[in-house]
Amino acid sequence: MKNHDLSTRARSALPGGVSHELRYRDPHPVFIDRTLGAEKWDREGRRYVDFKMGSASQMLGHCHPTIVDAIQKQAARSIFSADCHEAEIEWAEWVNRLYPSAELTRFTSSGTEATMLALRLARAYSGKDHVLRVDGHFHGWHDHALKGAKPGSEQAPSLGIPDAINDLIHICAADPQGMESALQDERIGTVIIEVSGANYGCVPLSTDTLRALHDVARAAGVVLIFDEIITGFRWSPGGRQARDEIVPDLTTLAKIVTGGLPGGALCGRAAIMELLSNATVRNGLGPAVSHKGTFNGSPLVAAAACAAMPLLASGEAQAQADAMATRMRDGMNAAMSELGVAGTAYGESSIFHVYFGAETVDGLSPAEIRGLPKSTVRAYCDGMLSRGVDIMSYTSGLTSAAHTPELIDEALAAFRATLSDMIRDGVLQ
Ligand SMILES: Cc1ncc(COP(=O)(O)O)c(C=O)c1O
Repeated sequence: MKNHDLSTRARSALPGGVSHELRYRDPHPVFIDRTLGAEKWDREGRRYVDFKMGSASQMLGHCHPTIVDAIQKQAARSIFSADCHEAEIEWAEWVNRLYPSAELTRFTSSGTEATMLALRLARAYSGKDHVLRVDGHFHGWHDHALKGAKPGSEQAPSLGIPDAINDLIHICAADPQGMESALQDERIGTVIIEVSGANYGCVPLSTDTLRALHDVARAAGVVLIFDEIITGFRWSPGGRQARDEIVPDLTTLAKIVTGGLPGGALCGRAAIMELLSNATVRNGLGPAVSHKGTFNGSPLVAAAACAAMPLLASGEAQAQADAMATRMRDGMNAAMSELGVAGTAYGESSIFHVYFGAETVDGLSPAEIRGLPKSTVRAYCDGMLSRGVDIMSYTSGLTSAAHTPELIDEALAAFRATLSDMIRDGVLQ
């Protein structure tokens, strides 16, 4: 069946024809049939160099043989019984070893669940319901995470969230003075930060700024949560906190921590994490902070994660992915300069972003950086996709350990051709 026909069928079975709003595409998405390494093939047999990499989850490359083997063996032994098992202990031990903030770890079934649990735990520990978050940072889709996710807006970008919840969420700019003055409000007991900067570093957060934000939160005595759902196992095996030695109270992980399977994790200081323990019985009802979830730490996911951990802990996967992202950013900047396009390719670690219209994003507000005209973003993404290169939903991409110089050069040729089309069509000057 062709992509177009599958899309028609999808629209009558799934709202909008998709299972995640960012997978929506006009006139239709491509329907992926098979993936391997840093490549994927759609139902029409077209091949793509992949820079989405499972929304940043497939750090080792698609269908890495070690992960596939671990899943197959575990599936034959037990898919799921909802019991305790040894692999979840081994998996948590890896996280506790690699993450400086991690004394104890609790597994969840998604990244969204990890930030939801982090906020509940932080509120319980601090005794305060109000939370401070940074403008434009993304922490998943639950009710307490959406206000402030759209840069420059106080409105939660969704209907259905009670005002009473939005009223508990405060937003500050990613600058230490802004955070300090917001924390004058003594109702606030928690700060949460996406440590790459908004949207996997699209609005970058320098190490000095992150350190200063950490210091401000520490001085105010609030519970500090680092959302390392993107940076975890990517910036370094121990995330940004290990790389830059800036340590929070609680850390949320997902995507790579599971070996690329569905799930997530919350780890942190024992004094806070112990509130989840059955030893802290509250009024005879159960743990002080309740957390359930049928598939948390499931054996299948734990098997994939434990197989991935040695490959992620050595730092080699990150070094390869970083080198390929650097090659991509350098090649994009060279192409823009040769073609006379005002723009910049930037980013840290194994991530690249493109901004059209200025040669640096320094000094631009988050709303400006995220505010490229829809027509520009669309011309760019469609141009790349039509040339067999799939990037993330805005103008960003991620590399993995499976990206090679040949694949990057192929993508750079597509980038150059796409820019030429955009100039010809008046989308870019
Ligand atoms: C920084 C960050 N936090 C939280 C989430 C939510 O994770 P999930 O999609 O697994 O619910 C994401 C997902 O992209 C993310 O990038």
